[in-house]
Amino acid sequence: RLDQGTMEVKLEVINLNSLFNFVLNRFDMILESDAKNENTITKNYNILREFTKEDVWVEVDPDKFTQVLDNIMNNAVKYSPGGGTITARLIKTKTRAILSISDQGLGIPRKDLDNIFNRFFRVDKSRSRAQGGTGLGLAISKEVVEKFNGRIWVDSVENKGSTFYISLAYVDEEPEDDWDAE
Ligand SMILES: Nc1ncnc2c1ncn2[C@@H]1O[C@H](COP(=O)(O)OP(=O)(O)OP(=O)(O)O)[C@@H](O)[C@H]1O
Ligand SMILES: [Mg+2]
Repeated sequence: RLDQGTMEVKLEVINLNSLFNFVLNRFDMILESDAKNENTITKNYNILREFTKEDVWVEVDPDKFTQVLDNIMNNAVKYSPGGGTITARLIKTKTRAILSISDQGLGIPRKDLDNIFNRFFRVDKSRSRAQGGTGLGLAISKEVVEKFNGRIWVDSVENKGSTFYISLAYVDEEPEDDWDAE
């Protein structure tokens, strides 16, 4: 659909603090239920939130943006076989909101950093295949983020971990609530 230009984007002004937190809460729940299930091999994760106290309003397609964050969070878990801390940050600069997700996993070799957002690219084909990856998640994430005039990039050190960043222009005010007009 992206290729054919038929992907429908439904832009809405949303509170990024809430949307991001919603995604992270779901991962917290998955990790908790894994920990209780004797049949799964539990990895030792914890998710840390470092959010600005200010509200951040951005214009995105909430469903599509949720999928982007899901993929980055899934990757953070999938490519951190030893577990560790996943740090989720949300900050405001003068003009843009920047969110980031850092893991303490396998990291990405320097030579591969430029390819990571290309379709079907996987760092270690055998390793990723064992994890069930197709190498499409980040390519789609990039196209989606760019539809909102956002940027996505990565910073990583092999065997130390990776940080994925997304920046978006924020809008100044909470949107007027059409339903609440008095
Ligand atoms: N947090 C991370 N740590 C280390 N390597 C990563 C991380 N995120 C992505 N990668 C590398 O980048 C590759 C591309 O990621 P991408 O999400 O596009 O595909 P995938 O996870 O393999 O498959 P899927 O299509 O299911 O998302 C991965 O195969 C992996 O090698
Ligand atoms: Mg992925």
